[in-house]
Amino acid sequence: MTEQLTGDGLMTYEADNRDAGQTVSTKCSARSPSPSSRLAAVQNSELKLTKANAALRPQVSAPDAFRDPALKKAAFYADDSVLIFNMDIREAMAHLEKAGVLVNCIVTSPPFYGQRDYGVDGQIGLEAHPVEFINSLVSCFESCKPVLAENGSLWVNIGDTYWSGKGEHKSGEEKQGARRFGLRPQDKKGDGLLCKPKQLLLIPHRFAIGMQDRDWIVRNDNVWVKPNPIPDQVRDRCSMSHEYVFHFVKSRWYYFNKNPVGRKAASGKTLPPADTWEIAPARSSHTHKARFSEELVRIPVLSTTPDGGVVLDPFGGSGTTLAFARRHGFRAIGIDIKREFCESMVQQLRELE
Ligand SMILES: C[S@@+](CC[C@H](N)C(=O)[O-])C[C@H]1O[C@@H](n2cnc3c(N)ncnc32)[C@H](O)[C@@H]1O
Repeated sequence: MTEQLTGDGLMTYEADNRDAGQTVSTKCSARSPSPSSRLAAVQNSELKLTKANAALRPQVSAPDAFRDPALKKAAFYADDSVLIFNMDIREAMAHLEKAGVLVNCIVTSPPFYGQRDYGVDGQIGLEAHPVEFINSLVSCFESCKPVLAENGSLWVNIGDTYWSGKGEHKSGEEKQGARRFGLRPQDKKGDGLLCKPKQLLLIPHRFAIGMQDRDWIVRNDNVWVKPNPIPDQVRDRCSMSHEYVFHFVKSRWYYFNKNPVGRKAASGKTLPPADTWEIAPARSSHTHKARFSEELVRIPVLSTTPDGGVVLDPFGGSGTTLAFARRHGFRAIGIDIKREFCESMVQQLRELE
């Protein structure tokens, strides 16, 4: 094994994996403590440096990574452990990539198809056809790829949408208010193929397949079960009470620490968490109607962010992910196209001080 310190403050090493007959080349922190005994064993060279073991070595951005002057200039808010960008994801990713920032865990909830109008040019979610929406969403996550560590993870919370085809909604029912904002794409006539009345569009799985087509590996389609869903006033189908949290990775070998999030078996062994998560939805704030619960980011952040690592929420909204990441000692990056939401991210972080 050979090790050397690179100009960007990251440690790289190369290891000969004789079993696989291949060379592992990765970047790791020079100073990262170990979150699990297996990792400790890898770092102490007690275990053979297979690709799987090598992936446990954190690839962590240097402590001064957030101090890049061009990055700070582009940011809406910047300090040594937080960066917030008020712009389209793809633009923010270009800044991060240029500054050489690496993130370990991306966890986010993009706009769901046809559910909200955030009233900002460039927002995604209101494309005329679901396929256009999926293409926009996949392009947003493609732009995240260069910034995500090779052994990092991407977690995406996404729910589904029915095509209605009934034209603009007439009822003034208050609970549905934020979801009724004039003529939504799914209220239009439709193409008679995928887009026909009563059709569940299967957006989450179409999106996941779109991601597979771009070389992402799907590890789980975790199901978020909502114990008290908003009544959806239907007579001829079951009431919807779940969303998905997809776990994607770039490579077969990635960082995953089940210890802080696992289930205890009778034997005392820690098992990985189950792929169904029963979590009560968060109350919407006065500024953000689609806030998600902190509990939803717990497994993603704690299992796939190594000590000293960076968490990114590219559709940051009110800043739920950033606040959770900061409270657990991780650096955090948030992006939102709407200025008001960037202000609320800063506010959430100030409340932690
Ligand atoms: C479902 S909300 C996220 C809510 C967030 N998880 C929370 O807990 O508050 C989606 C967010 O994506 C933002 N957004 C929409 N299009 C965007 C784009 N192209 N680039 C960056 N942000 C965008 C919206 O302004 C909105 O705040």
